[in-house]
Amino acid sequence: MSNKTFIFDLDGVIVDTAKYHFLAWQRLASQLGIEFTPEHNEQLKGVSRVRSLDLILKLGKIEALQEDKNKWLIQKNTEYLSYIEKVDQTEILPGVLSVLNYLKEHQQNIVLGSASKNARPILEKTGIIHYFDVIVDGNDVTNAKPDPEVFLQGAKKMNVTPNNCIVFEDSVAGIQAANIANMISIGIGEKEVLHEAQFVFPNFTHIDTTFLENLLKK
Ligand code: BG6
Ligand code: MG
Repeated sequence: MSNKTFIFDLDGVIVDTAKYHFLAWQRLASQLGIEFTPEHNEQLKGVSRVRSLDLILKLGKIEALQEDKNKWLIQKNTEYLSYIEKVDQTEILPGVLSVLNYLKEHQQNIVLGSASKNARPILEKTGIIHYFDVIVDGNDVTNAKPDPEVFLQGAKKMNVTPNNCIVFEDSVAGIQAANIANMISIGIGEKEVLHEAQFVFPNFTHIDTTFLENLLKK
């Protein structure tokens, strides 16, 4: 059995925090008089905080001063932090722990590849930080997904080649980043949205050990 590197996105893959990002952006958008729907939100998933705000302002055709943008970024993050303050193990998405345990038992590398600057506190609060050999988050990268930088940094830190990496992602931008990086892309979510992924599962409970065994044999 070979040694592979499994790179997990965080928000919407490991924990159910994508909904909190959405709520916090939606509040800001409505304050600015911009209609912001779950469909619009798909474009923001996996995207950095700064770029997300730009996308929302573009949606509302608003040109803003940097000073105002900075204020709104702080406001969004403050609201988001108030949601994640209470995050605990119960917010780990179904099936995630079984897959993490399987990979650990089979001596596979486990990496976090997230755009979020809040990734570490979430991993700590949910009690799963010890699973990760390497963590690459929004504090480490300069280019947001779909740029593959976050995943390539993970591979580099693990000292492995991209073609031996498997990425779990819930966002269109993240799947594109994994594909550009020449890694196996596995979408967690809806097939219609994540159609660029090599495999798509509604959630981790649909990923069985036969599927994982086959990935290890590749
Ligand atoms: C990604 C989320 O994981 O992180 C995005 O999918 C979010 O919605 C991005 O905007 C940045 O997160 P943070 O916590 O640094 O604002
Ligand atoms: Mg995500």
